[in-house]
Amino acid sequence: MSSADIVVIRGGRVISTSGVTAADVIVEGELIAAVVAPGSAAAMAAEAGGARVVDADGCYVVPGGVDVHVHLQLPMSPEATSSDTFATGTAAAAWGGTTTVIDFAGQMKGMHVRDAVEERLGEADGDCAIDYGFHLSMGDVDDIALKEMGTLVDEGLTSFKFFMAYPGVYYSDDGQILRAMQRCAELGTMAMMHAENGIAIDVLRDQAAARGDTGSVWHGRTRPSRLESEAVHRAAALAEVAGAPLYIVHLSSRDALEQVTWARQRGLNVFAETCPQYLFLSIEGHLDQPGIDGLRHICSPPLRHRDNHDTLWQGLRRDELAVVSTDHCPFCDTEKLLGSEDFRVTPNGLGSIEHRMDLIHAGVTAGEISLARWVETCSTTPARLFGLYPQKGVIAPGSDADIVIYDPRVNQTLGADTHHMNLDHSVWEGVEIPGQVRTVLSRGSFVIDHRSYVGRAGHGRYLRRDVSDLLV
Ligand code: URP
Ligand code: ZN
Ligand code: ZN
Repeated sequence: MSSADIVVIRGGRVISTSGVTAADVIVEGELIAAVVAPGSAAAMAAEAGGARVVDADGCYVVPGGVDVHVHLQLPMSPEATSSDTFATGTAAAAWGGTTTVIDFAGQMKGMHVRDAVEERLGEADGDCAIDYGFHLSMGDVDDIALKEMGTLVDEGLTSFKFFMAYPGVYYSDDGQILRAMQRCAELGTMAMMHAENGIAIDVLRDQAAARGDTGSVWHGRTRPSRLESEAVHRAAALAEVAGAPLYIVHLSSRDALEQVTWARQRGLNVFAETCPQYLFLSIEGHLDQPGIDGLRHICSPPLRHRDNHDTLWQGLRRDELAVVSTDHCPFCDTEKLLGSEDFRVTPNGLGSIEHRMDLIHAGVTAGEISLARWVETCSTTPARLFGLYPQKGVIAPGSDADIVIYDPRVNQTLGADTHHMNLDHSVWEGVEIPGQVRTVLSRGSFVIDHRSYVGRAGHGRYLRRDVSDLLV
């Protein structure tokens, strides 16, 4: 190993799930070689041998963020494709301290799952700045798809998402979901669920539109949290009958969280993620605005009333919510305005891939969660749940050198003028963050160096994943 491939990160505080430790980190090539006491002989020897030294004095040294729910260049309709490509979205993720993303290959009705996966692999190939993987979104659960799941697991695609929402698009009925969950149980793999009762929601949406209630706030009012909690309960019941582990994506409400708590107290392998939008934004403060301001905030599940926020933070503290992901699915104003006459036409989704680590760190400084829990929910647990640990999610010898140097002394204000997402507005405009990413390494290569982008499209590798190591 030449000294050019050795990096010593000196003088920082390393954050892990068990707390904060003053330590130097030695990187050799793509891997972490050692985590040693500050100024120890090993670090001094590496420095004397010509290693590159990164001064992390006053900074946190954090395992790279793992965002297990993103939608890059996703065609939502013939008119609207999510605006971040694999190149722009993964670069923006790196700017914000995320070094691994898991996106979705989408199997639509009548499509072979193999084609869905190959197509998505082809789209991402050579474009990503950081490492990436895919879950499979299954929109057509049939015998062929169920069989093919086994081959995909053997190849390292180990998680499968189903939809109780979006009838006519990705929706599966309870029988299809049960069969798919039985297959997940056989394979020991994770079933993921978009848990909203889409059949009932479609009735409410159409009734609202028929009355002339077509503004963005009706997107929220026609997707009540009770129809999220009902779906979470039903998903947990089906998973229990099938014996499958279950991961609820983008949980948004106190009602729904109660059902996760119920399932976990019952001893089930039921996990849930929430997203920054459900911790910080609200129906009354953001979705209920006229014109483009409201439309920009349309996502599913919808933003909820502000009084849900405290309970979701509590869920993160208590591990009822295990993960924070972004559900990054950005659309520019032209696409959002497609729904200016009817909220039902607006493409669903918000852009946050760059801001997850910052926003949850803001929760640390506000006293909502600890530094250890920040790292656990944004890096370690997502890596463990989706079969990437200890390659990702931890600063330890032998792990990939995906490392973020985070300066808690810098204050920044988020907004469209300064972000790096391919998005012409920001739902985070004006939000003040106590802290900022300074430097980011992905497998030992600098991607962000003192707030300069030095990464490249194509550095990111496709990740073949194991099954979760967190299942009991
Ligand atoms: O509004 C959202 N969440 N858009 C992305 C698709 C999904 O349901 O996750
Ligand atoms: Zn969803
Ligand atoms: Zn999503």
